[in-house]
Amino acid sequence: MAPNDNRSIIAVADAAALAKAAAKRVQARIDANAGRVAICLTGGSSPKRLYELLGADPYKGQIPWDRVHWFIGDDRFVPPGDPLNNMGMARRIFLDHLAPAENVHPIDTGAVSPDAAAQGYERALKSFYGADRLDPAKPLFDVVLMGVGPDGHTASLFPGYPATLEIERWVIGVPKANVSPFVPRVTLTFPALASCREMLFEVSGTDKRAILTRVLAGDDLPAGRAHSVGETTWLADSAALPENPGDQ
Ligand code: 6PG
Repeated sequence: MAPNDNRSIIAVADAAALAKAAAKRVQARIDANAGRVAICLTGGSSPKRLYELLGADPYKGQIPWDRVHWFIGDDRFVPPGDPLNNMGMARRIFLDHLAPAENVHPIDTGAVSPDAAAQGYERALKSFYGADRLDPAKPLFDVVLMGVGPDGHTASLFPGYPATLEIERWVIGVPKANVSPFVPRVTLTFPALASCREMLFEVSGTDKRAILTRVLAGDDLPAGRAHSVGETTWLADSAALPENPGDQ
């Protein structure tokens, strides 16, 4: 599969530089929108430093907290207080101290099933968006943060899973994960994740080099297929980047 036309790859030195670069891009997207801002967060370990930065000065003092809304691109179907819960992690690191409660939009992992939680979140997203169909001229999110897993998944869109084929639903339940933690998931689908001004991947460390090499080589993997209707940016540090990413 050919790389996305609108994909740019930005190389940074290390994990600290990566988080700084990501924070700057998030702030720039917030600054570019004078109205209601929507940011879709992600889970895993990659965004932790970014969340710490957003919760500290100078970002803390610059973010107009009253008009920024925080969503999550996928979550593990565990209670909100469980350490595995993605939104729970973001809440503990920065949202609970800084964001008005009504601006934080978690997936209801207390619902009867992952699919019931997905349906509830889809309704919430449609109500926030104000329409049932996504218009590429009016993206749902200003920024969608993403990571890549060892099997090439992103959000909870695992290679070969039916969720990767979904084009109607905005959110879907995933009964079984392909990688650890092996708990059911709830994930936004490709079309919902694509509805953003910028999709921002963070990739750091030697553990990611093999999968990043495959994504940049154009292998058909969910992380490679995911793209924004606007800009798609891959921020990667030198440990994760193949020697000559331009040659891939
Ligand atoms: C999740 C994620 C997932 C994650 C990647 C990368 O719930 O696990 O949202 O898609 O972003 O697996 O995870 P790491 O940052 O931990 O490597």
